[in-house]
This record gives sequence, C-alpha cells and structure tokens, in this order.
Amino acid sequence: MPTSNRHRVQSWVSAGSLGLLLTCAASVLAQSSPAASAQNAREECEKTFKPSTGQPGKDVVWVPTNDGLVTRMLEMAQVGKNDLVYDLGAGDGKIAIAAAKQFGARAVGVEYNPDMARLAQCMVRAEGVGERVNVIQGDIFETDFSKATVVTLYLLPELNLRLRPTLLKMKPGTRVVSHSFLMDDWRPDESSVSTDGAAYLWIVPADVSGKWTFQQQGGKDSFEVELAQAFQKLSGTAGTAKQEITSGEMRGSQIELMFSEGDVHTRLKGELKGDRIEAEVTRNDKTSTYIGARRSS
Ligand SMILES: C[S@@+](CC[C@H](N)C(=O)[O-])C[C@H]1O[C@@H](n2cnc3c(N)ncnc32)[C@H](O)[C@@H]1O
Repeated sequence: MPTSNRHRVQSWVSAGSLGLLLTCAASVLAQSSPAASAQNAREECEKTFKPSTGQPGKDVVWVPTNDGLVTRMLEMAQVGKNDLVYDLGAGDGKIAIAAAKQFGARAVGVEYNPDMARLAQCMVRAEGVGERVNVIQGDIFETDFSKATVVTLYLLPELNLRLRPTLLKMKPGTRVVSHSFLMDDWRPDESSVSTDGAAYLWIVPADVSGKWTFQQQGGKDSFEVELAQAFQKLSGTAGTAKQEITSGEMRGSQIELMFSEGDVHTRLKGELKGDRIEAEVTRNDKTSTYIGARRSS
C-alpha cells in the first residue's frame, strides 16, 4: 500500500476508534446517571409485577395520573418540605414519590391491592426516596390519615363523597386535591383544567358558624355578626340593622366577609385563632384591628 494511502487508512481507523470510544463512554455515562439507574431499578420492580391500566381495584380500577397533572396537583396544594402528603389509592406510588422528589415533602401512599402496594414500595426504593415515603397496604376507608396536611385523590365521585365527612373533620387548612372528580355541593376553592386533565383543590374550612361580637382594639366601635356556614361559604347578618352579609368565605382558618349598613361599608379580613377571630376591619376606608369573640355556636 502506498504510504499516503496507509496514512489515510490509519487516520480513518483511529478516528473510527475514537468515535467508538466516545460512543461507549457516553453510553456508560448515560447508564450510570441517577435517572438511568432509577429507570433500571424501576424496570426491575416491574419484573415481579407489571400492572395494566384499567386493572380492577377494590373500589376503583387502577389508572395512573399523568406526570404533568401529578406536578400540577401538588403545585395547587402548594406542597412543601413541611407537608405530609397522603395519596389515597396510591397505585404505583407516583404521587407520593413526586411529593418527595419534586417538593421535598414526606408522603404516605395507601393502596389496597397487595401486588400494587409491593410494586409501589419497590418504586419508592428505586427512586431513592425511602426515607421520606412510605406505602402501606390498606383500605382508604379504614386507614387513619388525620395527620396529613395534604390529601390527594384519583378515585370516583361517590368515593370522594364517602371520604368527605372525614376530610371535613381534618385540621382547618388541610389541602385536598382530586384528579377529575368533585365533591358534590362542596365546591372546589380552585380548579385547573388543561390537556393533562382536570384537578380540583379544596381547603378544609374552620367552623365559624354562630354569633360573634367584634370589638375594635384601642377604640369604642363594635358590631355583631351572626354567621351560617355551608362548607367554605358564609352567609348571615351583621350590624345593628342585621344587614345581609354580601360576601363571606373561609379559606382554612382565614375569614373574609363584607356587609353594608346604609353608607357604611364594612370589610373584614382575619383569622380564627382558638375561639377568637383576629381581624383587620375596614369601615369606610379606615382600617383597624378588631377581636371577634364567639357568643354562641
Ligand atoms: C385511579 S387509581 C389512582 C392511582 C394513583 N393515585 C394515581 O393517581 O396515579 C386508584 C387506585 O386505588 C386503589 N384502590 C381502590 N380501592 C381502594 C381502597 N378501598 N383502598 C385503597 N386503595 C384502593 C386501586 O387499586 C388503584 O390503584
């Protein structure tokens, strides 16, 4: 072979080897990246039990929430590292895992199907969040989830309704997010509908129904309020002339209401703390602090 040709062949061979070497290195790196090893570990989990969409469950079939909506649901609930998220009917554990991985929360998944619960536990280990996430095999209607600060659901309307009394007894401010399904006449505080699907948020309201006297701090003004409450919505009367409350709402322990007596417009914004309401009250553009004391419930 002439020298010039030999050189060309040698360069081609060494360029080819370098290319091959780089490809191998890239593939080794890709395989050893945390995402790739989590993926491998997830695939290992599915070798023992691979679920299929629509498979029967105790009260509802398994259909996973898509990744985009999982994130959206947890964003709506403003999940953070101090939260304890319970996913009722946890499936493969993806909501509980995302709560820990993406939002730093602690999470518990409750799943009735033992194969599914074991798969979810394996997925938790595969994703490296075993310290913050627990999946328990159990029935959501027999499991105590009262310590949750956030509850996530992808069930059915009638199952949401069965859970509703328990949810309403939870600590005021607890966030409940449901994929697709509503809670009948307990209207959501927020809704998000996109191509990923529909998600609804409720914030467990504190109970402020009853008669209250609000006394201005450092002043002489006071007024009476009588509140009726349907979930987060407040109605009732206020002031000496017992005027209708024009708007009133609870968001957890936060209260907001408005009423007018003749030309005097009152807007109250406050918080229930124990058995009193600490509020900023604006009456005809003047704002001051009032304390509400409950006279009867
Ligand atoms: C629609 S899937 C939702 C899975 C997961 N939460 C998600 O959004 O990807 C409902 C899950 O609830 C489980 N399930 C049904 N009835 C249950 C019950 N009474 N207690 C616990 N889990 C239940 C099913 O096995 C299924 O995995």
